[in-house]
Amino acid sequence: MQLQSFPARFLTIVLASALAGAGAAAEPPSVSTRAIVVFNTVCARCHEGECSGRLSFDESFARSRGHMARHYPPAEQQEPLRRGLFTALAYMKDHCAYYPMPSKVPPGRTWNRDQLESLSTGDDSAWFVPAGRLAPGRYQLQLDLAADRLVTVQLTNERFETAIENCYDSHAGQLRIPFTIDDAGNYYVRLYVRRPVTLTRLAIRPE
Ligand code: HEC
Repeated sequence: MQLQSFPARFLTIVLASALAGAGAAAEPPSVSTRAIVVFNTVCARCHEGECSGRLSFDESFARSRGHMARHYPPAEQQEPLRRGLFTALAYMKDHCAYYPMPSKVPPGRTWNRDQLESLSTGDDSAWFVPAGRLAPGRYQLQLDLAADRLVTVQLTNERFETAIENCYDSHAGQLRIPFTIDDAGNYYVRLYVRRPVTLTRLAIRPE
């Protein structure tokens, strides 16, 4: 194999960035945080990490209304939300990645009740929290709930690799889950409860 000359490599990089830029510009800008969270919790149960190419927009979109409403009833009457969900699925299939989220990691990696509400499905039953970049090491995930619940907890990175996947019973409204990161990357916390509950605090601390 021959190494590319510098100008050829440079040109490849410029072309690749131009194409990526064009792709990003073609993306409808109006996917709400709610749609991204619903997709990455409710729909991800089946559609996580689907990387199998394009959807034909008009046809699949029209046909998927009943299917989306079955899994997330509020989608039935909300066309913009359905478009957002569809775009998030199309993006995942096309880019093999989570739809980019504007949400910032708060100082001290601690999220309060309001921040968590904005990263929920809106019915106190599922949350998708971009946790930012984690270096290899030992950490603790801390959750505070308004009442005790059985919580399904997952921690995945942008390559859909899992660092935590388990169910935990809270005690006195608290969960403290130690975990280890082996591969540096951008991580996402995903939480599910069967009976709705207010999540009052989430934090990630080095151990
Ligand atoms: C219980 C599993 C399951 C859940 C949950 C689920 N889906 Fe699906 N979905 C499927 C299967 C199976 C198909 C058909 C095969 C395929 O295209 O992946 C499908 C197909 C689709 C299609 C059509 C794809 C195409 O190629 O035409 C869309 C759009 C879609 N789902 C969106 C969603 C959205 C949005 C949610 C969340 C509100 C969701 N799905 C939740 C299993 C599920």
